[in-house]
Amino acid sequence: MNKETFITENAYGEDKSSLNYWKNHRNKLDDLYPSERYFLYPTLKSAKSVLDVGCAAGGSFDFCREAKSNIDYTGIDISKKLINIANEFHPKGMFFVYDGHEITFKENKFDLVFSIGVLHHLHHWRGMIEQMVKCSSSFTIFDIRLTNKKTLDNAKKYYQYVTFDDKQKSKTAISYLVFNIDDFKNFMKQCFGSGGYRVESYGYYAKPTDLANIPYDKVFMCCIKVEKNSKSPGIFIDIVD
Ligand SMILES: C[S@@+](CC[C@H](N)C(=O)[O-])C[C@H]1O[C@@H](n2cnc3c(N)ncnc32)[C@H](O)[C@@H]1O
Repeated sequence: MNKETFITENAYGEDKSSLNYWKNHRNKLDDLYPSERYFLYPTLKSAKSVLDVGCAAGGSFDFCREAKSNIDYTGIDISKKLINIANEFHPKGMFFVYDGHEITFKENKFDLVFSIGVLHHLHHWRGMIEQMVKCSSSFTIFDIRLTNKKTLDNAKKYYQYVTFDDKQKSKTAISYLVFNIDDFKNFMKQCFGSGGYRVESYGYYAKPTDLANIPYDKVFMCCIKVEKNSKSPGIFIDIVD
């Protein structure tokens, strides 16, 4: 690792170009990757309330309302600066800063809980998934990076620079995790293998961002949907070439 590299979970809230970027990006359904839209769009259309975990500057308020004009929206993030921007730009949304670890909303509070572009940065992703599913009454949707190779979760070795300007100048970085599919499936089976959950995946292989310092030239960009009280429960997670 470059000696000057500074790895922090709050990288997106520290870097100035990042604060600027989130003001006017990823606020339309069309801005999302197909893997992100695949489960989100139809689920948003039928949800009355939604929680976005890692909402940055609140662009998701706009795309959630685009899918369902009267949806009751809440967003949380660890960055105070990003949440301040969210409140300024989207005064009709409910935005909160939290500690990044404990989601304190009550069980089953939201029809849909989602998190995109977040969990592949977090070493405590397991606890986050369990908490997200707990506070959703029906659906939880999140994206991760999967591989058939070994899991990458060493923060000192595998990280992503966070900048929307000049990559060369960037020092601020955040961990970048890639999960081995069997490790991930085992975790999901342990948590949601019984009790009426249906877990589905959708995704495709793609090249990771140039800002990522990882040894794999392609990773499986995967979205997961967890449904509670399903009529057809089961774990259906696959890497499809
Ligand atoms: C790549 S951005 C994605 C923003 C937005 N979800 C999107 O997809 O456009 C990652 C976001 O996750 C936030 N974040 C980092 N750690 C977090 C945590 N533990 N809990 C929630 N959000 C976190 C960052 O501050 C940043 O806003």
